[in-house]
Amino acid sequence: MERIDNLLPDAGRAMSGSSASRKPEALRLDDKICAHCGRELQAEWVEFPPALQRKYDRPGEWYYHPCTPECETKNDQREWELMRRDARVAALKERSGLSKRMKGYALDNFDHSISRSTERAFAKVMDYIKDWWSNQEEGRGIYFCGDVGVGKTHLAVAVMNELITRKRVPALFVTVPELLDNMRGAYNDPGRDIDEWMDSVKNAELLLLDDLGAERANDWVRERIFVIVNHRYREELPTIFTSNVGPRDLAAQLGERTASRIISMCDWISLEGEDYREAEVRRGL
Ligand SMILES: Nc1ncnc2c1ncn2[C@@H]1O[C@H](COP(=O)(O)OP(=O)(O)O)[C@@H](O)[C@H]1O
Ligand SMILES: [Mg+2]
Ligand SMILES: [Zn+2]
Repeated sequence: MERIDNLLPDAGRAMSGSSASRKPEALRLDDKICAHCGRELQAEWVEFPPALQRKYDRPGEWYYHPCTPECETKNDQREWELMRRDARVAALKERSGLSKRMKGYALDNFDHSISRSTERAFAKVMDYIKDWWSNQEEGRGIYFCGDVGVGKTHLAVAVMNELITRKRVPALFVTVPELLDNMRGAYNDPGRDIDEWMDSVKNAELLLLDDLGAERANDWVRERIFVIVNHRYREELPTIFTSNVGPRDLAAQLGERTASRIISMCDWISLEGEDYREAEVRRGL
């Protein structure tokens, strides 16, 4: 059972300071009803021993007697459901391909007030998350572009972490150079089977392709990227990209077919400004 001081933040304060003769009626309990059947719960005032009174700075607390056994079962189930949800989120993060550092990239440790561009980017990202279900339905992703160190990966991963945690989206993080290396490896060594892995890249409910365009593109690279982008385009699966290639240069870099698909399936967010880490060093942090 949840502690009463968590449930009724004013209860302790209202009671402390009054004499030991306080009665349960001194506290209105109308918000303390069973969430399942609506019955008012039986409350009992429990006086703390002096040591606990000092520790919590309160004379005691209300104890609520359990409701009917049926309602208690529902409470237990709810707790179990919550635990199951947490375990599922942990498992999704484990399988996300995110490094330990990246698991820590979050919206609330992204400093969005450093420039107009980060402000705008942050607002767009919040909208994207708010509209997730329709974005998913339409296969809409985000393309973050900008120079090195402006926070593209941080913000993109923060979106991904938020969607994993709050909406329990099975999401996958892959850097493009690594992806290509893996494919090259499999190419040179036919015994190696990366089909399964490629399958999960192509079909992830949400895919983050980090550092697109970092690679000098030859025909082989262009073709590999086209296969992934085209599959996700056709299946309307949302993809988030980070890249230092702007919209105008994308076709030259990756080819018209890939560029046009990316452009039609993504909202564009450009991050401008200086390298965050260099700026931090200069500020003496
Ligand atoms: N606005 C920001 N708020 C907090 N940390 C930031 C911000 N922008 C960048 N960083 C940090 O700076 C480093 C470089 O950012 P990163 O996202 O890797 O840049 P990019 O992917 O654009 O090259 C990371 O450690 C990241 O956490
Ligand atoms: Mg990056
Ligand atoms: Zn009940």
